[in-house]
Amino acid sequence: MRLPLERDPQHPFDPPAGLRGLPPMTRLELADGHLGWLATTHEAARTVLADPRFSARQDLRRAAVRATVPPGAAPPPGFFVAMDPPAHTRYRRLLTGRFTVRRMRLLEPRIERVAADHLDAMAAAGPPADLVPAYALPIPSLVICELLGVPYADHDFFQDRSTRLALPGRDAQGATADLAAYLTELVGRKRKEPGDDLLSELTGELTDEEATNVALILLVAGHETTANMIALGVFALLHEGLAYEEDAAAGAEEELLRWLSVVHLGVPARAAPEDVEVAGVTVRKGETVALSLPAINRDPAMFEDPEALRLDRAEARRHLAFGHGVHQCLGQQLARIEMRIGYRALFGRFPDLRLAVPATEVPLRTDAAVYGVASLPVTWITGSPA
Ligand code: HEM
Repeated sequence: MRLPLERDPQHPFDPPAGLRGLPPMTRLELADGHLGWLATTHEAARTVLADPRFSARQDLRRAAVRATVPPGAAPPPGFFVAMDPPAHTRYRRLLTGRFTVRRMRLLEPRIERVAADHLDAMAAAGPPADLVPAYALPIPSLVICELLGVPYADHDFFQDRSTRLALPGRDAQGATADLAAYLTELVGRKRKEPGDDLLSELTGELTDEEATNVALILLVAGHETTANMIALGVFALLHEGLAYEEDAAAGAEEELLRWLSVVHLGVPARAAPEDVEVAGVTVRKGETVALSLPAINRDPAMFEDPEALRLDRAEARRHLAFGHGVHQCLGQQLARIEMRIGYRALFGRFPDLRLAVPATEVPLRTDAAVYGVASLPVTWITGSPA
């Protein structure tokens, strides 16, 4: 089978119907026609992602849906998402200490400011608003600016291009090229005049090409994912008629991460450099295993009543929405903070927020790399307390 993508517009948060009732490992036709595997249970996914024999190298693995890199292309310097240890370890070591909970907490006041400024603008313009460009996208893009040390004067350019990366039909390739050129130039500037930011620190330890690719990864990995978790999370709460609960058992963010699984397209895939047993099948040397996070995060063996969104679910943290093993999301603490502030500030400002169109008319991004909504028209009663 091919990876099922179609969602039921009546149930936009449920995994595609074709993923139901599959065995832990199913034969999958990959984007290039090769036959690989799809892992759909929590246990099979952990087995693959924790086994060092499986490779994340882009020149070994095949894409489940659409190939973004030419076959056989080795990862360029610094492109550590597509590397295995020990090459991968070197970059992770350099970055891990800079993404700790403590370091990310220092960004909280700035994230709160960014959220408040955008809510002010929404309130001033009056309802309705499209929450995606008005709120969900600017938060991660301005946070990344902050983290990398993009000068304030360049914020508009940076935000425009990174927004285009995420919105369908807006020349994403051109935007990536613009950002790559911009980051190359910025790395050069940071080397000459270092500031108090991540990119300046990285230039001390990496070549310009490495630092540029690391910056590009952080931008791409942290942008659409977080923006869609904010927008789709708001849609889910409104749709299910649930109030955002900041003090829920594991954190409402965890349950939303589990339930929504925005990284949905069979990534992260892994290649087997030798025969490996997984959940009772033999993955042959050279074959690729793709993973369906929407199916894995609704695994009944791991989550009780998995189809229900329960903000107080204590075991929500077991989700694999951030992956597992050595490539587990580097930015997860930052993502959690952005989501928490994003939901809290929005519902704090507009407690009566609701959809401005019927739920079935909200456009879904079923074939985008990250699942979510292309736009989210919302409305509120004016005169809500500022
Ligand atoms: C890796 C999800 C936000 C940076 C990953 C992976 C997933 C993921 C599933 C694993 C990829 C793999 O195993 O191949 C998410 C989700 C996010 C989010 C759902 C938002 C809610 C962020 C943010 C940043 C970030 C804010 C940074 C600013 C990264 C990086 C990697 C990664 C650098 C690659 C790590 C490695 O290969 O060692 N993310 N992510 N992510 N994420 Fe995130």
